Amino acid sequence: MTFDFQLILNSLPLLLQGAAVTIEITAMSVGIGLVLGLITSICRLSHMKVLNILAVCYVNVIRGTPMLVQIFLIYFALPMLIGERINPFVAAVGACSINSGAYVSEIFRAGIQSVDRGQMEAGRSLGLSWGQTMRYIILPQAFKQVIPPLGNEFISMTKETSLVSVIGFEELTRRGQLIIAKTYGSFEIWLTVAAIYLIMTLGIARLVSYLEKRYATDDRN
Ligand code: ARG
Repeated sequence: MTFDFQLILNSLPLLLQGAAVTIEITAMSVGIGLVLGLITSICRLSHMKVLNILAVCYVNVIRGTPMLVQIFLIYFALPMLIGERINPFVAAVGACSINSGAYVSEIFRAGIQSVDRGQMEAGRSLGLSWGQTMRYIILPQAFKQVIPPLGNEFISMTKETSLVSVIGFEELTRRGQLIIAKTYGSFEIWLTVAAIYLIMTLGIARLVSYLEKRYATDDRN
């Protein structure tokens, strides 16, 4: 086997465009996932039974089924129900956001529960409502606890978005497949695709460790 460097150089612009699309869907999905996750974690911790049950069902159903199947459900099954085709971008971001929201909600729940109970009691005894105490006292303290696991979620989603290649959405993995279909350069292209994912995830890891240092204040003493 000869290693075709030229093929890598020629394919790089297309692959990098794919990588930009990967970053775009990851950022949108984790962004929407953060909002969904925050709402779900608060529902999960609230004392309203209905909200509680809804939150538990959402997390369990999403976490308990493969993301690949969720993508198929949204892209192929949902249109049969609503009678309209769904744009692959909407299906991709929709499936990834809904998936991420479930994982993020567990991250937030753990973060919120890591804040000492006394903080809620102190807030309430000062006359703040449950919501105000959550907003001004608990969530700011929970924030720095959730930076490392949220970083993990970001890294996971960067890789998991490769699953949307199955609905033909042209992110990095799909671009790789398409180039290989034309050039048969499996070895060179998959190696390059892997290297691009690695560079992206290492970049995120660095960003997360910077944020961690920036917000670190030691609670251990
Ligand atoms: N690929 C796995 C699945 O299909 C993991 C999904 C992980 N999702 C996440 N938001 N971290 O379920």
